[in-house]
Formats: sequence, C-alpha cells, structure tokens
Amino acid sequence: MSAKIIDGKSIAQEVRAEWKLRADALKTRGITPGLAVIIVGEDPASKVYVANKVKACAELGLHSEHIALPADTSEADLLAKIAQLNADPKIHGLLVQLPVPKHIDSDKILNAISPDKDVDGFHPLNVGALATGNMRFAPCTPYGSLVLLQKSGVSIEGKHAVVIGRSNIVGKPMALLLLQHNATVTICTSKTTDLAKHTRDADILVVATGKPKMITGDMIKPGAAVIDVGINRMENGKLCGDVDFDSAQEVAGWITPVPGGVGPMTITMLVANTIQSAERAAAK
Ligand code: GUN
Repeated sequence: MSAKIIDGKSIAQEVRAEWKLRADALKTRGITPGLAVIIVGEDPASKVYVANKVKACAELGLHSEHIALPADTSEADLLAKIAQLNADPKIHGLLVQLPVPKHIDSDKILNAISPDKDVDGFHPLNVGALATGNMRFAPCTPYGSLVLLQKSGVSIEGKHAVVIGRSNIVGKPMALLLLQHNATVTICTSKTTDLAKHTRDADILVVATGKPKMITGDMIKPGAAVIDVGINRMENGKLCGDVDFDSAQEVAGWITPVPGGVGPMTITMLVANTIQSAERAAAK
C-alpha cells in the first residue's frame, strides 16, 4: 500500500483563503486584524519563523508589527512592551517568540500576555480553557495538525490516537484537541517503554519528538494517519521529519511530508487565531 500524501501547502492555501474572507468582512466594518510579534535576541531559526509570521499577515492584508528587541533586554522592559501592546486596540494577537534569553522567565512572559490576545494559546487561562473543553485559542501547530486530519477526511471519533511528545507547544495541546474530538488518546514520551507497541496500535499517530526519522514503517499500523511535526536538518543540508517517510509511506494510509506538511499550517492557524480574536473584539 502507498499512503495518501497530505499536502500541507495546498490545504494551508485553502484554509488561508477561507480566513481571508472573514478578515475582508471585518475590514469592510473598518477593523483590520492586527498581530504583534516580539522577538528578543538573535536566534537565527526564531528570526526566520518571525519573518514568516509577519509575511503571512501581509499576504492576507492584516496589520502586523515586528518588534525586535536586543538579547540583553531586561524582563521589566519586555513586560512593559507587552503591557503597551495589550492595551493597543490595533493589536488583536500578540506573541513572544520562544525561546527567550535565559535571564527572562518565560512563564512570567506568557502570563503577562492578555488572554484575549494570546493567539499562541500558551497563557495558563487558555491552556485551562482547552483542557476543560471551552477552547478559546488552540496552539497553532496542533491546531494545524487537526485541520490537516479533518481536511483529509480522516475520522477521529472513536479512533485510537497516539501522540509522541509532551511539550506544552505541541504534544499536550494535540492530545487535548484529539480528546475533544472523541479520540481515545495515548501520550508517549522519551521514557515510554516499548514505544512500538503503542505506535503499532495507533489509528492516528502524531510524532513530535525532535529525533530525525525515529518512527519507521515497521512501527506503524497499516492504514494509519501519520502526522509528522518534526523538522530536522540532515548533514546533507536537506530537511527531514521525525518519521522515516520512505518506509512509513509504504504502510500508512495518510502521511504528511517534511517539508510541506504541518509547517505551512502552523502560520496559517496563527493568522486564523488573529482574525478570530479581531472578530471577538468587534463583537464586544
Ligand atoms: N517557538 C517555537 N514554536 C513556537 C510557537 O508556536 N510560538 C512561539 N511564540 N514560539 C515558538
């Protein structure tokens, strides 16, 4: 069997077009959704992510602000900037790119972002809202992964979903979203014994380990939907996921490629969350 390839690029385009209509409707009422992205320091990967976020906003005609602060910015100055943007009516979405430099307490920063503008969904109030089934903002990568499954016609209800990875950014919110959609959910970690026993029982397998090609075809249930959240640079300079695509696609029913799978969806859902936040502000 050869898996259906889930084309994240084309699904992202389709989803962006749907959200652009909603942004345009707001604009006819004089409201332009706005996103502010703060980056502290010079991390090269973070700089690329932030530039792509701002570019996606521009492509959809959104207002965006890119605030680049030096690596030695004090925690107090960062908190002051957040407070200023929390109060700015042009801004509906606000995020601080992670990781922040070591002298800054990231939990303090995430707590300071207004829960109403927390388009990353990392504020404890929004984490709690997701956990209690009252979702306000879902974190963008798991949200995008969920939309990929839905748009590909993968049924979730009653299925066994296995999530590998328990980060606050991907694994935990992914598990909560799948639970919300009535999957039976298992979360595996680096401490899980006999990982393959769990992965082979997965109808839906979401992999976010950061370990290149660690999930191989023999670990996958025939016909399963495999979502690869990993993005790793190989020695030859090419990108690969946490799943060994070549062997996995022989067994899986659906699979996301790397690049071109989950990646394009993350920023799409950030834009979606920003537009939704502007809709909520307009309804107040
Ligand atoms: N660093 C890696 N992923 C993310 C993300 O989704 N949001 C933020 N703010 N920082 C990140």
